[in-house]
Amino acid sequence: MELQINDKTYQITSDADTPLLWVIRDELGMTGTKYGCGLAQCGACSVLVDGEVLRSCVMPVGAMAGRKVSTIEAVSADPVGKQVVDAWVKHQVPQCGYCQSGQVMAATALLKQVAQPSDEQIAAAMVNLCRCGTYNAIKAAMHDLSGSKGAPAAAASTLPAAPSGPAGVNQTTVAAAAVAGIGAVAAIQWSRTQKAKAGKEQA
Ligand code: FES
Ligand code: FES
Repeated sequence: MELQINDKTYQITSDADTPLLWVIRDELGMTGTKYGCGLAQCGACSVLVDGEVLRSCVMPVGAMAGRKVSTIEAVSADPVGKQVVDAWVKHQVPQCGYCQSGQVMAATALLKQVAQPSDEQIAAAMVNLCRCGTYNAIKAAMHDLSGSKGAPAAAASTLPAAPSGPAGVNQTTVAAAAVAGIGAVAAIQWSRTQKAKAGKEQA
């Protein structure tokens, strides 16, 4: 099938039920879009489809026919995307960086729809997980972009306070790790299904 990504048309050979994420990463070699949970929970795999943010780990590539996909590789070519990247640099948002392509895509999608989003709109749109806890920096960058001063950084996070468990383990980290673990299993199962299918076809 034909797939339009970043204003280019690609002929792809993956099965129609292959998650868009794996076509982008494995078939087309664009590795900026990340795999986190595989369950549409963390947002690491976020891309834009016809301008709306979408979690590519659970979207069959067959559903993308005739639609325009944008990935982090081309985000700076978009004027709004470029502003987001500049704000991310200005506010030094990334820590390890793994979640940040998804965060930038989510921010770009919001700001393309609403130039000056309210705190509530920012909170509703910026729900991707970050294991490094860059939420306050993301919020500061978003307030900068939206022209609002927002709340002071120390009080800016709308995420519930992450309580420490008996052994001092951050419960948010535990939850994210659990989601990632389940997703890894899902990816392995998907991979096995594909191998089984390929085996049948050869037999
Ligand atoms: S939401 Fe797609 S990898 Fe987590
Ligand atoms: S910056 Fe490390 S996971 Fe978000």
